[in-house]
Amino acid sequence: MKITAIHSKHGGSTRAIATMLLNEIKKQEPGTEADEFTVAGFPSCAGCFTCFAKGEEHCPHYEQVHPVISSIERADVVILDSPTYCMGISGSMQSFLEHLGYRWLLHRPHPAMTSKIGVAISTTGGVGAKGVTKSLGKNFWGWGAAKSYRLAFSVMATNWNDITEEKKLEILRRTEIIARKTVKKAGKAKRGLSKRVTFFMMKRMMKKLDTLPDWFALDKTWWRRYGWIKE
Ligand SMILES: Cc1cc2nc3c(=O)[nH]c(=O)nc-3n(C[C@H](O)[C@H](O)[C@H](O)COP(=O)(O)O)c2cc1C
Repeated sequence: MKITAIHSKHGGSTRAIATMLLNEIKKQEPGTEADEFTVAGFPSCAGCFTCFAKGEEHCPHYEQVHPVISSIERADVVILDSPTYCMGISGSMQSFLEHLGYRWLLHRPHPAMTSKIGVAISTTGGVGAKGVTKSLGKNFWGWGAAKSYRLAFSVMATNWNDITEEKKLEILRRTEIIARKTVKKAGKAKRGLSKRVTFFMMKRMMKKLDTLPDWFALDKTWWRRYGWIKE
């Protein structure tokens, strides 16, 4: 199994849980390979629309974001971890995710996404982690991933060492369950009915692309290339 793990920062409680999940998956599925990236310090999306209109290779941050995106495309499982900051996704993760706007369903979803599994992880001092994993999960949905799981924990701590042993046991127990589900489904996951219906609706929309602005032209070519729409 191939995993791409994208961390918000170099340390912290949330990343510690992502590492716990990776270790658990490797224990259950020896031979698992993981590519790990840390997006702290990545530049913010410039909002220039270049990826949509001219192609992602023209993104001003292509050199930095492309290795991560191509790893996602090769992986069976993608892990995104973000601490809860101001009730939302960390700025560094959000900055990275915006670079994948062109990979959302209405634009140029990667065909390999149809069998991928996403795992969204967040910790919070008190509240907000469920909202963060839900927002991360929306990205998996937008990319067209087959399935996603969420791990959200309220830890009441500013670092991993200060988390109580009781809480750490709960984290380990829930992480083991998600690892088991991930190992069972990796490479075999299929989109459920609601995702297939969404894709069908996207197809209908893409057929009307001639009525949409010019910057959709690349998207339409993409949909034709994969035979999702005819001429
Ligand atoms: C800038 C910042 C914003 C935060 N916002 C919240 C918040 O909105 N709600 C909350 O309960 N905890 C909040 N916290 C606490 C963190 O969510 C919590 O300590 C989390 O476990 C940190 O994860 P990390 O160690 O992976 O960075 C915030 C912490 C920081 C540094």
